Amino acid sequence: MAASSDHAGKTGFRAWLNKRLPVDEFIDSQLIGYFAPKNFNIWYFFGALALLVFVIQILTGIFLTMHYKPSETAAFDSVEYIMREVEWGWLIRYMHSTGASFFFIVVYLHMFRAMIYGSYRAPRELLWILGMLLYLALMAEAFMGYVLPWGNMSYWGAQVIVNLFGTIPVIGPGVVEWIRGDYGIADSTLNRFFALHVIALPFAIAFLVLMHLVALRQTGSNNPDGIEIKEKMGSNGKPIDGIPFHPYYTVKDVVGVGVFLIFFCGVIFFAPTFGGLFLEKPNFEPANELSTPEHIAPVWYFTAFYAMLRAVPDQQLGALLMLLAIVVLFFLPWLDRSPVKSIRYKGWLSKIALALFVVSFVVLSYLGLKPASDLYVILARVFTAVYFAYFLLMPWYTRIEKCKSAPERVTYHA
Ligand code: HEM
Repeated sequence: MAASSDHAGKTGFRAWLNKRLPVDEFIDSQLIGYFAPKNFNIWYFFGALALLVFVIQILTGIFLTMHYKPSETAAFDSVEYIMREVEWGWLIRYMHSTGASFFFIVVYLHMFRAMIYGSYRAPRELLWILGMLLYLALMAEAFMGYVLPWGNMSYWGAQVIVNLFGTIPVIGPGVVEWIRGDYGIADSTLNRFFALHVIALPFAIAFLVLMHLVALRQTGSNNPDGIEIKEKMGSNGKPIDGIPFHPYYTVKDVVGVGVFLIFFCGVIFFAPTFGGLFLEKPNFEPANELSTPEHIAPVWYFTAFYAMLRAVPDQQLGALLMLLAIVVLFFLPWLDRSPVKSIRYKGWLSKIALALFVVSFVVLSYLGLKPASDLYVILARVFTAVYFAYFLLMPWYTRIEKCKSAPERVTYHA
């Protein structure tokens, strides 16, 4: 591993540059000098993939913005124009719309990894909280982006979601009007959502990603065994079970990127609407305030929460449940009282609870896509209870179960 002083001997442009900007010093200290656990598995691909999707969204977003028109009268047609007339416009648009769904796929897998290996536990609570703030910012970003094409589902989806703020006691109706900037979802709403979608939220997300990575650098990565590699240092002052992030994990991540791109391109070229899941059918019709889509449902990544909203007859309670379903995730680091972090060494209760949690999230996501018939409402109630039970009973089942003892050193088979 090269030390930063080695660059003193460099000549030419590199020496010129490094005298003025600590490029090599940064690579040495943050990439080569950063030791990550040697037992990372495929679950550790998704952070890098989330970064990749973020970059794809920014780049494709810039090109979409060149042709998109944020006005009630022109928005829908400008998207059609991008799809039919702008050269490669269809590709840019499908990359962006598919990118939104893939962002949530990789972020959900990324969060699940943190849940199975207990990466949210001390000392990584702040890293987890920053991740949760990222998740919230992403939700807002995706919601506002969905309104922009001004299709019929954009319009009615915005109507339903913005009206949820009306359930806030006392100030609710005022807040709804303030968000819309009008008495209904209107031109002013579209305009401000555009500003937030292309400027404010991307900046907020970029800042949060930076903080997320700085916090990760401070504590170091967790790993599938859930043990701290910093507790076993070698004579070189580096963890014995760590390997330099670069080149080992940069090269490994390239493999993940390759596999990711196969799936990503597969959807873009062969199933861009993904059967109405990634781009919903009513959104191919322009917004019409006189014609409600037969069945209003958000895009798949929000439907678990939407199912909770509809699980109870009272809208105020439903909105509160939805909010709590997200808020409770913030408290995960303090709800888990297990003596071990990784699911590998936790007891059966934790394993069953986690499996039920996954089932509840998947079933609720499915239910949120369907019309709220009687049976669906009953199922939604049951699985909402299962969802919350996972968190609320955690302090109990993580304490009483019998765990295996975690190993001293990470388990790694070359
Ligand atoms: C834009 C979204 C996000 C980006 C770009 C991002 C990026 C990353 C990267 C590059 C890493 C290190 C590599 C890895 O462990 O996979 C990481 C680790 C981590 N992230 Fe994220 N992340 C995002 C969202 C989230 C969310 C929503 C959460 C949870 C609520 C989260 C929680 C974590 C945790 C706990 C770790 C440490 C995992 C470990 O060491 O085992 N991240 N993130």
